[in-house]
Amino acid sequence: MNTSVIKKFAIQTYGCQMNVADSELVEGILTKLGLEKTSNFDEADAIFLNTCAIRENAETKVHSRLGNLHKIKLTKPHLIIGVLGCMAQNLKDDLLKNKPYVDIILGPDSYRKIPELINRHEIDNKSIVDTKLSRYEVYENLFPTRGDTFNAWVSIMRGCNKFCSFCIVPFTRGRERSRSIESVVDEVKKAVDQGFAEITLLGQNVNSYKFEGNTFAELLLAVSDINGVKRIRYTSPHPQDINIELLEVMASRKNICNYIHFPMQSGSNEILKKMNRTYTREHFHYMASKIREIMPNCGLSTDIIVGFPGETEEQFRETLDLMEKVKFNSAYTFKYSPRPYTKAEQFTQQISEQVKKERLDEMLVLQRKHTLELNKKMVGTYQQVLIEKESKKSSNHWAGRTDSNEWVIIEKNNSKIKDIVPVEITSATGVILHGQEITGA
Ligand code: SAH
Ligand code: SF4
Ligand code: F3S
Repeated sequence: MNTSVIKKFAIQTYGCQMNVADSELVEGILTKLGLEKTSNFDEADAIFLNTCAIRENAETKVHSRLGNLHKIKLTKPHLIIGVLGCMAQNLKDDLLKNKPYVDIILGPDSYRKIPELINRHEIDNKSIVDTKLSRYEVYENLFPTRGDTFNAWVSIMRGCNKFCSFCIVPFTRGRERSRSIESVVDEVKKAVDQGFAEITLLGQNVNSYKFEGNTFAELLLAVSDINGVKRIRYTSPHPQDINIELLEVMASRKNICNYIHFPMQSGSNEILKKMNRTYTREHFHYMASKIREIMPNCGLSTDIIVGFPGETEEQFRETLDLMEKVKFNSAYTFKYSPRPYTKAEQFTQQISEQVKKERLDEMLVLQRKHTLELNKKMVGTYQQVLIEKESKKSSNHWAGRTDSNEWVIIEKNNSKIKDIVPVEITSATGVILHGQEITGA
């Protein structure tokens, strides 16, 4: 293969964990080709942006980054610029027309073609596009080069069939498909052998996992049975597919973390219906209560959108009310952003930016109150903390997460990164907990 000019590559990743995992996959492919990874754009011969299209501002960031790359290319004509991921799918026509300096545009199901395309580009120097979505591609038998030190992302399913009316993902990532339990187990075993303490199972709708009749709960059990798996997390589930069987499996296994990301989106039944979310506020509240009944210390986080088309002040209040009832440990809150291809983009009564901002601000204040309240309840409790990194604020402290996904700062003792240590929570300031390692325990 002729990859002579191309020796070093860089990848910058935008968007969700699926993209992080995909970048690791691409890195695996390129490293196998003999290329070397660099984080310095100036010394790279190929630069890939793995892009996200979820909201308009995600796309804006990529456009401005491409502007920078164009400048680098003017001084280094052999540089290959590649756009991967969800925007590639979505914006290929615009990129081809307006950004001719982009050499390779690959959608999320086309990464196996990278070696062939780099080679082809070197020969004829034309832009190359492949954004075809596949019903089958799950990247079986391709092993990613993992970036983290303690956590291994393992993608178990791809795509989404839910078509929430606001969301572009079903268009950028295509239909749902799952890997076999055996291939997931195989990859997790390899990650454990490489020393990873935590495994995070990934999918756009991770708990819609289905392979030849096997369910997500069954897959979780199989992964939990693997020797040496200390912690299992998963993201992102859809509330419709959280059921009692899954909660009981989670409660029954020590190495499955007591944490669920439980995306509510709205607390108004009319809005949920217009969003095509397939559950009601009553069902959502019921499942949240069930989660806390079956796993009393379960951490709960959520995603909420404010300013969906037609959202009245009263409907917004219903969302705040459901937040009060459930009390999430944390929330990712977003202003609605109209996306191409989606149903909601066509809806009348789009909400003004000003109103969206006011609603978001009010929601953030409420969420901060809940976070602090729940964190304060943890003071005096004992938690198992997996040490992940040095604290940003002090080189004498570690930062790690509890089983329930709360960040805790502890003083460095003899412990090191990847250790799971017993900690007493001593104080709660905002979103961060402080604790003391219990030595000699
Ligand atoms: N599959 C995941 C969501 C992935 S997108 C799930 O169903 O939970 C992550 C979050 O982005 C969504 O939960 C939603 O809150 C937000 N989001 C998606 N499309 C959006 C849009 N058009 N405007 C604002 N937020 C959006
Ligand atoms: Fe988007 Fe809904 Fe699918 Fe999540 S479930 S990826 S929000 S369409
Ligand atoms: Fe973004 Fe695609 Fe993930 S649109 S949020 S990178 S699935």
